[in-house]
Amino acid sequence: MEACLLGRSVLVLLGLLAGTVHGVAQADESAAFTPAQLSHVRSLGPWPPAWTADPTNRVSGDPRAVELGRRLFRDPRMSPVGYIACVTCHQPDRAFTDRRARAHGLADLPRNTPALANLRQQRWYGWDGASDSLWLASVRPMLDPREFDGNPTSITRIYERDPELAACYAAVFGTEPVRDAQETIVNTGKALAAFQETMVTGRTAFDRYRDALLRNDASAMAAYPAPARRGLRLFVGPAGCVACHRGPNLSDGQFHAVLDPAAARFGDDDGRLGGADRLRANPMNLLGRFNDDATRANAQAVERLVVRDDMRDRFRTPSLRNVGVTAPYMHDGRHDRLVDALDHGASAVGTTLGAAARDDLLAFLVTLTDEHGERRPWSTEPLARCP
Ligand code: HEC
Ligand code: HEC
Repeated sequence: MEACLLGRSVLVLLGLLAGTVHGVAQADESAAFTPAQLSHVRSLGPWPPAWTADPTNRVSGDPRAVELGRRLFRDPRMSPVGYIACVTCHQPDRAFTDRRARAHGLADLPRNTPALANLRQQRWYGWDGASDSLWLASVRPMLDPREFDGNPTSITRIYERDPELAACYAAVFGTEPVRDAQETIVNTGKALAAFQETMVTGRTAFDRYRDALLRNDASAMAAYPAPARRGLRLFVGPAGCVACHRGPNLSDGQFHAVLDPAAARFGDDDGRLGGADRLRANPMNLLGRFNDDATRANAQAVERLVVRDDMRDRFRTPSLRNVGVTAPYMHDGRHDRLVDALDHGASAVGTTLGAAARDDLLAFLVTLTDEHGERRPWSTEPLARCP
């Protein structure tokens, strides 16, 4: 009896509180955000971003290169063993990742396979930024002994044995694929990059709310669930997430040490330290002969890159778009559930999250999922005529 009464009064109280918050929301939603928070919300869009070609890749945006990349992405002949392709790990019906904690090709890798999306929004690629272009990040798996274990000659051989693919390559690049094996593997990476640039996530409930908030459209705002609004307020406010998960892609593209390295799931991984070191030494970085941008503007970042010990244990901030469908989480896949992947943020700003805050953040994060979710669009038809 007592418990029941108590329950009822709590309900009444909750109802009153909800009424108050709702009233404020209807009067002027933007008043619930401080000006600084409101400008953070604004900076999480607009979405989708305007398309810009990658100046370091001369076939970026070329429809025939996109089509060549689409074919190569799922082609198991890319690996000398003949059964591993990019789609082995980046699967279209699993948000272009693989639902595994760590990737497995010919052997285990120590890292989680990132969902491939919105890649034009990044500046460095891989968890450790060991690539400074999307095409270099696409060449890397061809050479890695744990992935394809290929080499320039094994890639050239695919074109030698497939005249139609070779003709498509020649149409895209204006040279024969057998002329210079090193150039051929880089161009293959560039076609793959052109294809992957088309993998952009769609608009979400959050994007509709953000736009409605900015134009003060109360009826459009009402469609956004109250817990998600509270989560967004935490995200751009006291929980401090927006310090790193910022910009339209909810990633600053930079490297931070936010996890306890002692809890690493698959042994030592020094993150950005090793990544920066490998990038500096890589002849295919943007300082090398394969950068198609004559101005070399994009090469300044790698030119100025100084490998310092404080880069140890840093990993690139992941985008949070579609994060609700890309488990497991973190560079070593240490968390299976999204709710367990939130604590690093609060500790970065010196707070802890209570259960209610956690639920609200979760409610916000799932509104970042687009209409396709985990099952990404994948055309089985050619995207363009090639050759
Ligand atoms: C064995 C599984 C596996 C295969 C096969 C594979 N990848 Fe990956 N991919 C990964 C893993 C793991 C990472 C993270 C690498 C790192 O941080 O060092 C990654 C990272 C990437 C990235 C960087 C993404 C980002 O957000 O920075 C790109 C781009 C990429 N892969 C494209 C490809 C392409 C193109 C192919 C085929 C040529 C391919 N991958 C084949 C597992 C795989
Ligand atoms: C200091 C920068 C920083 C702050 C602040 C921060 N994050 Fe992160 N976040 C990262 C980095 C870096 C990673 C990847 C860490 C790793 O794998 O080593 C990450 C990973 C994540 C992931 C896992 C994503 C995936 O695909 O694996 C989620 C979810 C996430 N953050 C949400 C949040 C939320 C919510 C907040 C606020 C409570 C927050 N983050 C605050 C930098 C930050």
